[in-house]
Amino acid sequence: MTDFQKITWQSPSNIALIKYWGKHGHQLPCNPSLSMTLDKARTTTSMYYRADSHGLKVKYLFEGKKQEEFEMKILKLMISLQDEMPFLNQYEFRFESSNNFPHSAGIASSASSMSALALCLVSLEEILLKENYSREDFLKRASHIARLGSGSASRSIFGNYALWGHTDDLEQSSDEYAIPFTLPVHEKFAAMGDAVLLVSSQQKSVSSSLGHHLMTVHPFAEARYKQAETNLQALMVCLQVGDFESFACIVENEALTLHSLLMTSSDDGLLLKANTLHIIDEIRRFRSETGLQMCFTLDAGPNVHLLYPLGEREKVMDFITFRLLRFCENEQWIDDQIGTGPVCTECHSMERSS
Ligand code: DP6
Repeated sequence: MTDFQKITWQSPSNIALIKYWGKHGHQLPCNPSLSMTLDKARTTTSMYYRADSHGLKVKYLFEGKKQEEFEMKILKLMISLQDEMPFLNQYEFRFESSNNFPHSAGIASSASSMSALALCLVSLEEILLKENYSREDFLKRASHIARLGSGSASRSIFGNYALWGHTDDLEQSSDEYAIPFTLPVHEKFAAMGDAVLLVSSQQKSVSSSLGHHLMTVHPFAEARYKQAETNLQALMVCLQVGDFESFACIVENEALTLHSLLMTSSDDGLLLKANTLHIIDEIRRFRSETGLQMCFTLDAGPNVHLLYPLGEREKVMDFITFRLLRFCENEQWIDDQIGTGPVCTECHSMERSS
């Protein structure tokens, strides 16, 4: 029996309103993206570590089971981090991770899991360097490390709205890490619901990495990157002035652009299902009939995120029950909302482990 120490972080997923689709260099985005951090969809990761003179060792268990593919990914990431985190080479690590949302939900689990892992690593770095980072520097560093694991994970480090990628409109913005969206957000957008309507639990056929890669040869790539900048500028104004109509237009345009790019990148890129389109149709029809403030967005998969100000919750719940559930697989959906970001649940504790 040897002493391991333990750090645990719980980190949320996020849903992009302005999509990151296309990267270059070492995990750098081709355009800035902006997301809303979720509240309930979270990954909890415990990192057990102990000094080991034989070099870096990594084990990764997901929901109690060894996950070879993910373990390899983490090992590769940690090897690549050794220059900026030399201590990694002197430790043995065991990660135990679990999600509180079903894998089939198509909720970006790489964002929550990579951000949780990055937060664990930066917490350890802080302990070993015996130096307290300011909260701002800690989160910036964690976002940078998370980005190297998965681009969208850089945004999950922050609550509410987060922006990753340089834009002239926000001085502190950077391609290297995400920042919290610090401009004053109108009260309408301060409390937002996200109903994730589960259309299909089948695994998606295009991985994000492949999708990003295919953008390098996409004929519309340059126009897309310009469009994302323009959409971002306009969305930032909507968030500040509380203009839901324009917000809905931009957010839906971003979702459909993502899928247009996917569909025209590869034969496997058609991820929308008939029920995805039925849901979109219903949302647009009901909105124009009733004026209800709600809109949809999509990830790289068939499930639909229905976004709405929480003030509209009662009406939206009825709408989901009576008009949308019939299009969801086994009537499943996840009732999520904007969240405040990651929490450290065990910051430094001793554990006995064999
Ligand atoms: C469609 O962050 O999963 O969800 O950097 O290769 O890990 P990697 O890609 P990933 O891509 C996310 C793409 C997206 C849009 C978004 O979250 O911005």
